[in-house]
Amino acid sequence: MVGEGMRLQGKIAVVTAAAQGIGRAGAERLAAEGATVFATDLRADLLDGFPGKVAALDATDHAAVHAYMAQFDRIDVLLHAVGYVFQGDIEETRPEDWRRSMSITLDSAYNVIQAAVPRMKANGGSIITIASVAGSTKGFAKRAAYGAAKAGVIGLTKAIAADYLKIGLRANAVCPGTVDSPSWRARVAELAEQMGSEEAALQFFLDRQPAGRVGTPEEIAGMIAFLASDDAGFITGQVLNVDGGITI
Ligand SMILES: NC(=O)c1ccc[n+]([C@@H]2O[C@H](COP(=O)([O-])OP(=O)(O)OC[C@H]3O[C@@H](n4cnc5c(N)ncnc54)[C@H](O)[C@@H]3O)[C@@H](O)[C@H]2O)c1
Repeated sequence: MVGEGMRLQGKIAVVTAAAQGIGRAGAERLAAEGATVFATDLRADLLDGFPGKVAALDATDHAAVHAYMAQFDRIDVLLHAVGYVFQGDIEETRPEDWRRSMSITLDSAYNVIQAAVPRMKANGGSIITIASVAGSTKGFAKRAAYGAAKAGVIGLTKAIAADYLKIGLRANAVCPGTVDSPSWRARVAELAEQMGSEEAALQFFLDRQPAGRVGTPEEIAGMIAFLASDDAGFITGQVLNVDGGITI
């Protein structure tokens, strides 16, 4: 692991969507840098073996999220990685696709951050949301609901940075390009059915990536650990693109 240190010793970190992909890599990296990590996911079965405390948590459930957060006197780092990609332009987006996108991607951020902030106010800390370059930064084909929801996550993150600036509570949004994860592989398979071949589907994604490849969850985790640490103590309200050159 490049750049690993123990910058987060003594910190308490809560992570959502920690079972796989970017959330998993982020949670593992926070633990590797010394944090005590409380890892949550809808699929608690996939958290078996995680080096920290694990729990099942549906981040779209406002009451459940508040009940979960009530166990903490103090949270230093909050990584909110829950998100859902519906693939479609606006004509293909049914009301239920739109609502599901908003619920999983944006409402979850409201629930989780609202419940965590009272536990972060006394000592300050770092909130990290996983947004996307698909959103307010750039428009992408077939990402109408997703882009709208992720733009909302960025707006919420910036508002939180403004509200809590004076008490040392930072909030930043990480915006990945395309990253190899279980749900990305499922999207490739879905598109392959529509396009007739896996090669064509992979090419659709690679055409969006100037670097000529997709990223790894670990490449996003490095940014997460940096933002969680005091090395980023003067950084708040920012949108950090980790995208293999999409936004050059
Ligand atoms: N993979 C990419 O290309 C990419 C690019 C940009 C942004 N992102 C964002 O990164 C984040 C992680 O995506 P990924 O592709 O790395 O992982 P993934 O989509 O493969 O896994 C996501 C995890 O979230 C969990 N989850 C889903 N709904 C949940 C809920 N309601 N409550 C709690 N957990 C829930 C799932 O069980 C799963 O473990 C998402 O917010 C996604 O939008 C991903």
